[in-house]
Amino acid sequence: MPLTRPAPARPTPTRRARTRRYLLCQPRYFAVEYAINPWMQEATEVDPAKALTQWQCLVDTYRGLGHIVETIDPVPGLPDMVFAANGALVVGGRVLGSRFHAEQRQPEAAAYQAWFKAAGFDVREPDAVCEGEGDLVPVGPFLLAGTGFRTTPAAHQQAQEYFGMPTVTLRLTDPYFYHLDTALFALDDDTIAYYPGAFTAGSRDVLRRLFPDAVIATRDDAMAFGLNSVSDGRHVVIAPRATGLIAQLADRGYIPVPVDLSELHKAGGGAKCCTQEVRSA
Ligand code: ARG
Repeated sequence: MPLTRPAPARPTPTRRARTRRYLLCQPRYFAVEYAINPWMQEATEVDPAKALTQWQCLVDTYRGLGHIVETIDPVPGLPDMVFAANGALVVGGRVLGSRFHAEQRQPEAAAYQAWFKAAGFDVREPDAVCEGEGDLVPVGPFLLAGTGFRTTPAAHQQAQEYFGMPTVTLRLTDPYFYHLDTALFALDDDTIAYYPGAFTAGSRDVLRRLFPDAVIATRDDAMAFGLNSVSDGRHVVIAPRATGLIAQLADRGYIPVPVDLSELHKAGGGAKCCTQEVRSA
């Protein structure tokens, strides 16, 4: 009789953090005044003091984890400017600026480009609608690029040429997940977490082939903004209501760090939307 032994449990790996540089924008003029995604309802009441406190907690969390946080001055009349991720994509010290889909957000592009120029970066103007890290997510050598609602495939092409990174177009289908960063995030240079239901069948196949070990999130966790998370390779700043995903990440050796941004969810954004990563050369 062959001896049957239980399969050895896979040891939980120790994850390594890398210090990051982030650009954020205080929600001083935050409001929900127009509706450009299904989370937004015109004239929704927001609690400005609560939005500021929650955002400050995000900043303090990053600093507590040892990251560098810089801020851009918010501009009156631009209530979505708090979502700094949409202002650009920065890789290797090169900046691709943004061109916003919604007219209401278009003036943000110049404000973000001016910040990067003043900080000494070269900024490339986008040729087509391009909403920065909202739809362009670097993972190791690849640039994952969302389209369907905002950023166009023409911008993916431009990003590939500008950064010289293999750029993988992914089609989003569910309007609740209108930006790639609401449905997927990079845990480190090799791994992602995502919600397959946000993508077309072909794009799901692409993700499965590229990241067979990905963390697969449920719709509930995605709707709780669990995939709008920010990882430094070890700590994952995540929405506290994404409880299933929090447990999955802990099982994989990551350290979930819950930060509640419920006031900002009213505009369709969470932690990652508020956070532009400045990846230096
Ligand atoms: N109200 C904003 C919009 O619809 C939210 C942007 C959220 N940002 C993000 N990176 N997903 O454009």
